[in-house]
Amino acid sequence: MSNPKRMMTMKTRTAAVTVMVALLWDLVIGDVSDVLCRWNTSCLLEGKFSIGDDVVIHWIQLPQISVHSFYHEADRLQTQDKRFKGRTLLFKENIGKGNASLLLKDVVVGDEGRYKCYVGTLMGTSESFVNLHVEAPVTRIHFHCDGRQLICSSDRIFPAPELRWSTEPALPHALINTSEVRQETQTELYNISGSLDLAGDALPGVEYVCDVSSSSSGNRVTWKKTIVNISNVETSIECASVSDQTSLVWTFNSTDIIASKRAGHKLDIAEHWKKHVKGLSEAGSLDLRALTDRQSGTYTCTLSNATRTRVHDVFLSLTATEHGKPKVAGVVIVVIVLLVVGAVAVAVAIYLLKNKNFASLSLSENKEGNEAEASNQLSSLSAQKRNEERVIEQGLLQTPAGETWIGCQSVSAMSLKNKQAFTPDVRLRLDAELESNPVDFWREKWGPSS
Ligand SMILES: *[C@@H]1O[C@H](CO)[C@@H](O)[C@H](O)[C@H]1NC(C)=O
Ligand SMILES: *[C@@H]1O[C@H](CO)[C@@H](O)[C@H](O)[C@H]1NC(C)=O
Ligand SMILES: *[C@@H]1O[C@H](CO)[C@@H](O)[C@H](O)[C@H]1NC(C)=O
Ligand SMILES: *[C@@H]1O[C@H](CO)[C@@H](O)[C@H](O)[C@H]1NC(C)=O
Ligand SMILES: *[C@@H]1O[C@H](CO)[C@@H](O)[C@H](O)[C@H]1NC(C)=O
Ligand SMILES: *[C@@H]1O[C@H](CO)[C@@H](O)[C@H](O)[C@H]1NC(C)=O
Ligand SMILES: *[C@@H]1O[C@H](CO)[C@@H](O)[C@H](O)[C@H]1NC(C)=O
Repeated sequence: MSNPKRMMTMKTRTAAVTVMVALLWDLVIGDVSDVLCRWNTSCLLEGKFSIGDDVVIHWIQLPQISVHSFYHEADRLQTQDKRFKGRTLLFKENIGKGNASLLLKDVVVGDEGRYKCYVGTLMGTSESFVNLHVEAPVTRIHFHCDGRQLICSSDRIFPAPELRWSTEPALPHALINTSEVRQETQTELYNISGSLDLAGDALPGVEYVCDVSSSSSGNRVTWKKTIVNISNVETSIECASVSDQTSLVWTFNSTDIIASKRAGHKLDIAEHWKKHVKGLSEAGSLDLRALTDRQSGTYTCTLSNATRTRVHDVFLSLTATEHGKPKVAGVVIVVIVLLVVGAVAVAVAIYLLKNKNFASLSLSENKEGNEAEASNQLSSLSAQKRNEERVIEQGLLQTPAGETWIGCQSVSAMSLKNKQAFTPDVRLRLDAELESNPVDFWREKWGPSS
């Protein structure tokens, strides 16, 4: 037969030991939690206790800085360190429920550290700890191309960030690049900036990448450039691709915004670009029309989501195609068009006369005047064609010949000929501009990477 009394005693003893161990544990180690607080926002430091009367709460930043005190039913801030002045809040309405959590507002870097939450009631005392970490994540990277240098920077970051340059695909030879971190004395946040020397020119088909990262956050900008020569009044220029894009902006010569599209908004085309923009494709390509030499320049597509930005510089120039004789070619085309229009008009007139349907030339009077309508359409098409030819011709005549792009600068043929201006290395690269496979080309020039 079992002894219920003895069982009871054993149970009680086990429970007592458990409670003792728990109490000791609490006294020695307490509850420890980690919290990641975002710089310049509010952050909750959790604290809880067993309900009891006459509550005393002390929040302390270890070793011994008074953060917030509460007793006799009210905040007692006479001893509060001035760093925390006006930034702390206890939820009075929740104290009766055993909640001693502290809200810390406008978090600064100096708030990092270990905090103790001491609570005393008539029932006993308890302590818990919170390890506070501050983070100012890498948000935006500022990027621009300055001559032959790519410049990349980001600011207000914590903890200390890193900046790295790379290319895709990787080049067989490293490019000179820099990275500099600076800490602001007041906020203790970090700024970072870096540059990559293109050593002459960007290689076609290569993407240049700037990565800025800090403990748990990071952002990336990639840049590539393309040179496009056209002799057309219409063209489509390619953007890049980024998943979950949040914004797309096309600019001309860096400051003139052509079109922009932000998440949740519809496409916005600048009024003065409407006559040149036919549309924007799903992938972000810009469809241009009615181009003249005045639209020669740099078209920059900047496409971003929260963590990636891709910049594509397209150097568009309207150039001569037919053996450098644009004017003659243009005039010849116009003359041919005029001749064709003339011939068609004569043919139509003869046809109409033959059918003794002269009066039907007026479209409003004759509903069966299909031929007249056709002829009308034909001549308006020809007029449109003629217009386009004229636009091309003007463009070609006014386009400054022999310009090329180095890095993100336009350089005329004149200065290119001035060999003093460029190192042999740069001239080599210029020669390579039309090479179809840049990476293999460089591998040949430089040999295998060391
Ligand atoms: C800090 O946050 C406030 C709003 O809560 C904002 O007005 C202020 O610009 C922020 N400061 C910095 C430096 O970001
Ligand atoms: C304490 O109260 C605050 C504010 O209402 C709440 O956000 C927090 O979750 C509470 N903590 C606990 C442990 O209940
Ligand atoms: C930048 O410089 C480092 C060494 O300083 C090098 O390892 C790296 O490849 C360079 N980046 C590029 C894109 O060349
Ligand atoms: C860091 O960047 C901010 C914003 O661009 C600027 O105001 C500040 O002067 C910079 N600080 C340092 C130390 O470079
Ligand atoms: C941004 O785009 C990149 C590349 O397309 C993708 O890997 C990443 O997950 C995207 N990030 C967000 C936050 O959407
Ligand atoms: C755009 O930039 C190019 C190259 O610098 C220049 O030749 C052209 O005149 C500029 N176009 C306009 C309209 O400013
Ligand atoms: C563009 O045209 C210029 C001048 O006509 C020429 O030097 C250059 O090689 C061309 N570039 C491309 C990519 O076709």
